[in-house]
Amino acid sequence: MNIAVCFNLAPAVPLRGEQQDRISEAGAEVEAEAVAAALTLLGHTPTLVPLGAKITPFVCVLQKLQPQLVFNLCEGFWGQSSRELHIAALLDLLGLAHTGSPALTLGLTQNKALTKDLLVRHNLPTPDYLLIQPGESLPEKLPEKMASSWPLIVKPYLEDASIGIGAESVVSDMGALRSRVAYIHTRYHQGALVEEFIAGREFNAAVIGDGSLEALPISEICFQTGLERQIVSYAGKWLEDSAEYVATEPVCPAPLVLEEEETLQAAALQACRLLGCRDYARVDIRMRDGIPYILEVNANPDISPSAGFARAACAAGLDYPALIDRILKLCLTRMENTNA
Ligand SMILES: Nc1ncnc2c1ncn2[C@@H]1O[C@H](COP(=O)(O)OP(=O)(O)O)[C@@H](O)[C@H]1O
Ligand SMILES: [Mg+2]
Repeated sequence: MNIAVCFNLAPAVPLRGEQQDRISEAGAEVEAEAVAAALTLLGHTPTLVPLGAKITPFVCVLQKLQPQLVFNLCEGFWGQSSRELHIAALLDLLGLAHTGSPALTLGLTQNKALTKDLLVRHNLPTPDYLLIQPGESLPEKLPEKMASSWPLIVKPYLEDASIGIGAESVVSDMGALRSRVAYIHTRYHQGALVEEFIAGREFNAAVIGDGSLEALPISEICFQTGLERQIVSYAGKWLEDSAEYVATEPVCPAPLVLEEEETLQAAALQACRLLGCRDYARVDIRMRDGIPYILEVNANPDISPSAGFARAACAAGLDYPALIDRILKLCLTRMENTNA
């Protein structure tokens, strides 16, 4: 098959945040090359289609190529992650079938606060939270449950990949909370999500399927001693030379008793169904007292061979080409059903 593998490029200087944030943005090209190599192995003819600073050349290339299907790995548009949903919508408007979650799901899950509003509405556990938009100040009194459960954690509400997350995100008093909220407002130009800090084991639940969803073996992020805070910080996720990176070790399958594994998988499946995730997704969860607190739903997770999703697929017996083939077949079945 003639398949376009679309991915986004990023400006040399990130539009907001810290210069180091570019490291995660630059990973898309490596991911696209790995997917294309797997597609070639499977007997297909992939073409890499980068999305740069302008949309017109991207559209022109796709129109010229006339791919039978698009493998959509775009995570935003020229440094704007909020534009991730627009690319999926654009492909729909161009009449191009594509892998991955639909535009609405990408938009919903990109907004961590809105996702949590929905989780709460459907009785799925998620840490208590408060969204403080730029220009707003913290309330005089924090909600009861948060006021009595320091520390709290402060995150940008529209980012992913641990962007804006470091040891300083975990705050233990009002002064530190105010200053971290101000940092998110000024450096990331967006609302600060203040959450109850869940001290407990951290897991990733990978989910695959379309309509009928299946959970893959659970991964655990094992925090080694020496970390200032037991969290997946930006350094812990991306900066290979940092002490945090060495001390943040993913393990799959996670050592769990069956009941715990089932609890985590059930929470992930419910969240993915609720938000309309399609083909592949990953849910980040922290478990405390047997309760799976959903931190966020990644409707467009990294599917590079070295990333957590591929590791979970491998633990389920799907090597990398088999994983890519599975995702492709989900899209093909959807195309057949739409045309039937
Ligand atoms: N409420 C919380 N309690 C404890 N740790 C948290 C909480 N929220 C986030 N973290 C830590 O911060 C990391 C990044 O947060 P997450 O919500 O997953 O955002 P991202 O989209 O950047 O991955 C998590 O993997 C976890 O280690
Ligand atoms: Mg996460």
